[in-house]
Amino acid sequence: MQYSKSVMKHFMRPKNQGKIKNPDGIGTVGNPTCGDIMTVYIKVKNTKGQNIISDVKFETLGCAAAIATSSMVTQMAKGKNLDEAARITRNDVAEGLEGLPPAKMHCSNLATDALGRAIEDYRSKAEKKSPEPAKRKKKK
Ligand code: FES
Repeated sequence: MQYSKSVMKHFMRPKNQGKIKNPDGIGTVGNPTCGDIMTVYIKVKNTKGQNIISDVKFETLGCAAAIATSSMVTQMAKGKNLDEAARITRNDVAEGLEGLPPAKMHCSNLATDALGRAIEDYRSKAEKKSPEPAKRKKKK
């Protein structure tokens, strides 16, 4: 199987590999067919009214493409607001890596799904934290 130079670069020297202490969101996904597992951690900062991914890291147990796509998706997500990051597609990741062999496209699915889950996790925690809307007083 032929990998691009970019896949090999991200596989050999992955960016943002590791764990974040006290993350604001965590997303884990696995592929039951190949057995690969990926976890994405995010830190979110509110800057000028926008929720920005200020830090993002990953831990991946998987193939070379799974590691390269994890590295690429974290690079793409860092500094983006949550809506922009949630719109990153597997094709964006594959293009960022100068292409993936067709049999390895599911690896980039795993990366975007793990990021998506971390964003969902952040949002559901934020929802729980936010106070209930004030109850209206009944008119007498
Ligand atoms: S072979 Fe399954 S994630 Fe790469």
